[in-house]
Amino acid sequence: MNSIWSEHSKIPQYPQLRKDINTDVLIIGGGMCGIMCAYFLKQKGIDYVLVEGERIGQGITKNTTAKITSQHGLLYSDLIKNAGVEQAKMYLEANEKAIAKFRMLCRNIDCEFEQKDAYTYSLTSKRRIEEEVKAVNKLGYRAEYMERLPLPLNVRGAIKFGKQAQFNPLLFLEGIAKELNIYENTYVRDIQGHTAITDRAKIRAKKIIVATHFPIINKHGSYFLKMYQHRSYAIALENAPKVNGMYVDEAQSGMSFRNYKNMLIIGGGDHRTGKSGGNWEELRTFVKKNYPKAIERYSWATQDCMSLDGIPYIGHYSRLTPHLYVATGFNKWGMTSSMVAAMILSDMVMGKRNEWEEVYSPHRSMLKQQLLINGVEAVCNLLTPTVKRCPHMGCALKWNKIEHTWDCPCHGSRFSREGNLIDNPAKHNMNV
Ligand code: FES
Repeated sequence: MNSIWSEHSKIPQYPQLRKDINTDVLIIGGGMCGIMCAYFLKQKGIDYVLVEGERIGQGITKNTTAKITSQHGLLYSDLIKNAGVEQAKMYLEANEKAIAKFRMLCRNIDCEFEQKDAYTYSLTSKRRIEEEVKAVNKLGYRAEYMERLPLPLNVRGAIKFGKQAQFNPLLFLEGIAKELNIYENTYVRDIQGHTAITDRAKIRAKKIIVATHFPIINKHGSYFLKMYQHRSYAIALENAPKVNGMYVDEAQSGMSFRNYKNMLIIGGGDHRTGKSGGNWEELRTFVKKNYPKAIERYSWATQDCMSLDGIPYIGHYSRLTPHLYVATGFNKWGMTSSMVAAMILSDMVMGKRNEWEEVYSPHRSMLKQQLLINGVEAVCNLLTPTVKRCPHMGCALKWNKIEHTWDCPCHGSRFSREGNLIDNPAKHNMNV
């Protein structure tokens, strides 16, 4: 199923890499993050190459709801508790700078950029919202408490961030990728030291940025322990109201809302990949009840990498690989997180210290409850005796009867009915 953005995208095709090359910086992955890294490196006059396994922007970027905001759910009260005021301030500042960077770049790209306010609401706890407003204000940023929203929901309260934004991500990507050094249909199967191995060529690089959504190398960094993937669904409706803003439920399984042109995009129905959840059915039931005149024009699904503590992993891939860098675990906030990642990594590969490095360091403590949940999930699925196994690390695959795919509950790889790879971290088709 095509997302609303895919329908309007005309990203040109880039060549395939067919001979061995050398470069200073290799970027693997042509989503928003990889493309922004390439853009900044080009601006700085660094020799770089970006390779994408399929077509640029055709992974998670084409399926986002494209909200550009520093309001990442109700993150800041937890962040202050767990990491302290200074770290929380850094995180907020990094994301506000990311919005400013998008605003600046979008002046020259026709990508339907619109300034909008962002709201996170709660259906269960006014206290949680009040705490978050206090926490954000403590960081020196003005957030407002709202009693009512233009949504057919009985909200207990909402927090408002002003001057955030929304856009069409593929139109933006098309504009920004012009004249970048990109190879498509160039799938990296392995990285051995400073060399990336693709099906047709080898790329030797002084530094390598892995921006492949879920990191593809298992032997360093333990990303298979410190991340899992979450699947969510979206529909776009005509004959539905203008909501004049971007709205998201604080609950992980709640809904989100934004308009695009004459349409209303509703997201939700979330669940861990490989498990069951509300999916499109939940959204359609809501629409039938609350917007009975609405007509569904698009439906699509996406999935996101979830970190242990709600903060992305951006920086050195592991302590043992000083030439390897990573950006992942964007926790459903891929637009601003991609921009922050590109700003940090483009500094790091040049040997320049970035002030936000520490907040996002992939080497911070892993001692979180989610680590235990991820471990139990992996052990249970490794021991489950089914024939269909995931080529990533061998977990039992689950049949997704809504999307007709084989999905892995361990780290979220997905395969078509015929066994063709759809989503990583697996790098190969499954054996059928
Ligand atoms: Fe890791 Fe399937 S995605 S075992």
